[in-house]
Amino acid sequence: MDKISIAIDGPASSGKSTVAKILANSFNFVYVDTGAMYRAITFLAIKHQVAFSDEEALAELTKRYPINFQQSVHGQLVFADGEDITQAIRQPDVTAAVSEVSAHRKVREELVEAQRQLAQLGGIVMDGRDIGTTVLPQAEVKIFLVASVEERAQRRYKENQEKGIEMDYEMIKEAIAKRDYLDSHREVSPLVQAADAELVDTTGMTIEQVVTKIKEVISSKGF
Ligand code: DC
Repeated sequence: MDKISIAIDGPASSGKSTVAKILANSFNFVYVDTGAMYRAITFLAIKHQVAFSDEEALAELTKRYPINFQQSVHGQLVFADGEDITQAIRQPDVTAAVSEVSAHRKVREELVEAQRQLAQLGGIVMDGRDIGTTVLPQAEVKIFLVASVEERAQRRYKENQEKGIEMDYEMIKEAIAKRDYLDSHREVSPLVQAADAELVDTTGMTIEQVVTKIKEVISSKGF
């Protein structure tokens, strides 16, 4: 497989990270979870008591504390400010505030730059909201994954249970719908399908079916 860039965008819990990880493994590519980077800044804001509305101070945090990914037998770990924040960035307090933090232009500028650096050498699967439109507009393959809000809430509910995070289904559904709205309506790089992205609706599809579908898209482009 050529060292291409694969951009996978879509709303919260559409299955992006699960399929992105499988694809990265099967092609021996690097996987970059850009949502984890916005979550890391949100976590740092809570830790250092920076207001979610304070664009300058949040941008300073992103400059001061680089975010690192490390592979482990337990999957990808996320580090910042000298600690392993893999679990902490998935907690409800971070999830509830991440849309507000990620809407700031200066925060996005810093993180987009870091994401482009990570993708420099190609051989990458990157997932997020604006990868195909803004971060890697030249990506050889762009996928836009969607699924009904009910199915996404079900998936997140199960995922949370497995991780021991207690959260009511209706609350999860509401939180996802709110995040969809905020992510799609923000001024800077809103969640939107790139003109040249392939739309894949994963409602009712298994993970294997989604992976197969994306591999078909990749081959149809000659890779
Ligand atoms: O994919 P996720 O749920 O971990 O993403 C967390 C938040 O980060 C999401 O609500 C919007 C934001 N995000 C973004 O604005 N741009 C990206 N490329 C990735 C995530």
